[in-house]
Amino acid sequence: MEKLERADLRELLKQRTREVEAVIERYLPEEEGYQRTIFEAMNYSVRAGGKRLRPMLMQETYRLFGGCGQEIEPFMAAIEMIHTSSLIHDDLPCMDNDELRRGVPTTWVKYGYDMAVLAGDGLLIYAVETAVKACKMEADPAAVAKAIGILAGKTGIYGMIGGQVVDVQLTNQPIPREKLDFIYRLKTGALLEASMMIGALLGGAGEKDRKKVGEIASLIGVAFQIQDDILDVTATTEELGKPVRSDEKNQKTTYVTLEGVEKARRDVKEFSDRAIALLHELPGENPFLEELIRMLITRNK
Ligand code: IPE
Ligand code: IPE
Ligand code: MG
Ligand code: MG
Ligand code: MG
Repeated sequence: MEKLERADLRELLKQRTREVEAVIERYLPEEEGYQRTIFEAMNYSVRAGGKRLRPMLMQETYRLFGGCGQEIEPFMAAIEMIHTSSLIHDDLPCMDNDELRRGVPTTWVKYGYDMAVLAGDGLLIYAVETAVKACKMEADPAAVAKAIGILAGKTGIYGMIGGQVVDVQLTNQPIPREKLDFIYRLKTGALLEASMMIGALLGGAGEKDRKKVGEIASLIGVAFQIQDDILDVTATTEELGKPVRSDEKNQKTTYVTLEGVEKARRDVKEFSDRAIALLHELPGENPFLEELIRMLITRNK
């Protein structure tokens, strides 16, 4: 593929987002039965939108290594379910206490605190049920099992949940840079690592390349969270579809409060450049993946 022009790229991004959404939609539960409310609450937040960055990065990394099967699809849906569950819980009154997400009222506002807790739990474990569906597809069972292990590990106490724990505990307190880096690597980096590592694994990448992919994703994750912190103070609620100044409201120490907006911007670029340099060291080419990483620097939502 030739180097992509800006307009083509925007079009391609829209098209790929639609493709990813169609995959996710196929794996959502039917809204029926006595427990119907939980299906509605789960689907509500997933269908509300979002950039679908994680499944997209997963698919593009899979393609980078020549993957062309279907077994990636349950994993794409699963990672978006897990990410959405993290957002549902992150918005709860006991956590960031936010009332808008993806441009609509948060799940707890719409369905109540109790149902939002259950919808987050429901999505988390339904993601595993979904990923397991890859076992019935034409794929190496050992690779699928390993991918499920990555998914669980990067989500749990050594990954996203672990990061959220430290984030919540240190609310309202100064945080040394080292600890902040730990929080970002886990609360945001871990799910991005899972996305790209699973893409690489199922795409057929060897161990050395998979390790490099993990490093790339970790850099992207930290850059992504810093940009999220920047947008929290520079963007509008309309642009983000979530409340701005949420960090200030919760008296959070963020990359921006520690380093200032200008340095934060420089570092987003630096981490992303480093990720792209590492990407060039991998075999294969995927210009769209590279542009996707570049777009994260300039994103305004
Ligand atoms: C928001 O993630 C939470 C963070 C980890 C910063 P996204 O910015 O990817 O949210 P959606 O999926 O587009 O709504
Ligand atoms: C949350 O970070 C990261 C998650 C694991 C959900 P934030 O609290 O900054 O995310 P937003 O700004 O609410 O999306
Ligand atoms: Mg939070
Ligand atoms: Mg939040
Ligand atoms: Mg934020």
